[in-house]
Amino acid sequence: MTGTQRDWELVELELDDPGPGEVMVRWVASGLCHSDDHVRTGDLPARLPMVGGHEGAGIVEKVGPGATKLAVGDHIVTSFLPTCGHCRWCATGKSALCDVGAVLTEGCLPDGSFRFHRNGEDIGQMCLLGSLSQYSTVSEYSCVKVDDDVPLDKAALVGCGVPTGWCSAVYAADVEPGETVMVYGIGGVGANAVQGAAAAGAANVIAVDPLANKRETAEDLGATHSAESAEEAHNIAQELTRGVGADKAIITVDLVTEQVVGAAFEAVRKGGVVVITGLADPNKLTVQLSSGVMTLYQKQLKGTLFGSGNPMADIPKLIGLYQAGKLKLDELITKTYTLDEVNQGFEDMLGGKNIRGVVIHEH
Ligand SMILES: NC(=O)c1ccc[n+]([C@@H]2O[C@H](COP(=O)([O-])OP(=O)(O)OC[C@H]3O[C@@H](n4cnc5c(N)ncnc54)[C@H](O)[C@@H]3O)[C@@H](O)[C@H]2O)c1
Ligand SMILES: [Zn+2]
Ligand SMILES: [Zn+2]
Repeated sequence: MTGTQRDWELVELELDDPGPGEVMVRWVASGLCHSDDHVRTGDLPARLPMVGGHEGAGIVEKVGPGATKLAVGDHIVTSFLPTCGHCRWCATGKSALCDVGAVLTEGCLPDGSFRFHRNGEDIGQMCLLGSLSQYSTVSEYSCVKVDDDVPLDKAALVGCGVPTGWCSAVYAADVEPGETVMVYGIGGVGANAVQGAAAAGAANVIAVDPLANKRETAEDLGATHSAESAEEAHNIAQELTRGVGADKAIITVDLVTEQVVGAAFEAVRKGGVVVITGLADPNKLTVQLSSGVMTLYQKQLKGTLFGSGNPMADIPKLIGLYQAGKLKLDELITKTYTLDEVNQGFEDMLGGKNIRGVVIHEH
């Protein structure tokens, strides 16, 4: 991506060897998440040019000096959030907020320098990764080793969409057995909020999406009800709870608006929680709510990164749930693409055709 509102381009870049605490990865697969498109539209302001892709899995090709966690040939899933392990946030179990994340929109590695170059110009890496490239040099802070028999094309999704959605339900919303949960927006993130809510024991999971294919998939993944609009979902929640309202609402739409936040806030009960996982331009105001209602009904509104999970703990946990047959990954992949079909892949995402599209790299 060389500038906003442009297509993704396939170009040859120079790639540096891994430095201290870094590895070179040969990417196997990269999921197409909406956040890359937010960089393209400018809704997520970032330094450009940047190599896209932040939902990847691959194999370690080279190991830099002092990299101790990984060896050549290791299979890895990369977290879209780096975690250093010893900043204040990492040390207190809030590693989605790791201070190294400060370089995310710059696209450099944790030491502030760049590994991709073109004609003397530094090129960034989306979320320190750039998995829409055949190779990248990445920080060990971004890598989670997985067993060699984990299929990397499926595991790639556990780099962003799966943990973000699942953890949004399990941690950020703290869904409890018997609760009624609304999930607004069934893409790669929302589909996993549905799986997370079901896994946490929700009695009712109401999936909201204007698209019929999304609602069908949500029901296959554990949603008990689905609705075409927030209004229809509100009525279902009222009926299911005898007028009390939903316990939790999770917003995973592609672009968060005042309307969807307002609808979720209205749908939750006294003491209910609304979680905002979807993104919107940070320079725009997208929440307008009555603080009086918030106070008098003790409703809560919170934002979340990575569903407030911890990548180094939750990525292996989710892979384990997949291996145990308790988390669906294969069913999330609607279509695969080659790297030169990447613009088609994003177009299909924007057209609502995919739960997830995945680029499979050819080497
Ligand atoms: N907080 C985080 O850590 C984090 C991590 C990853 C992605 N994200 C963000 O999460 C959002 C979702 O990403 P995705 O890849 O799943 O997107 P996606 O495009 O695959 O899916 C979005 C879905 O929302 C639906 N939708 C749009 N408006 C709606 C509305 N008003 N009501 C109900 N449904 C609606 C669309 O039909 C679509 O199915 C994006 O904003 C992405 O940037 C956040
Ligand atoms: Zn993502
Ligand atoms: Zn940290």
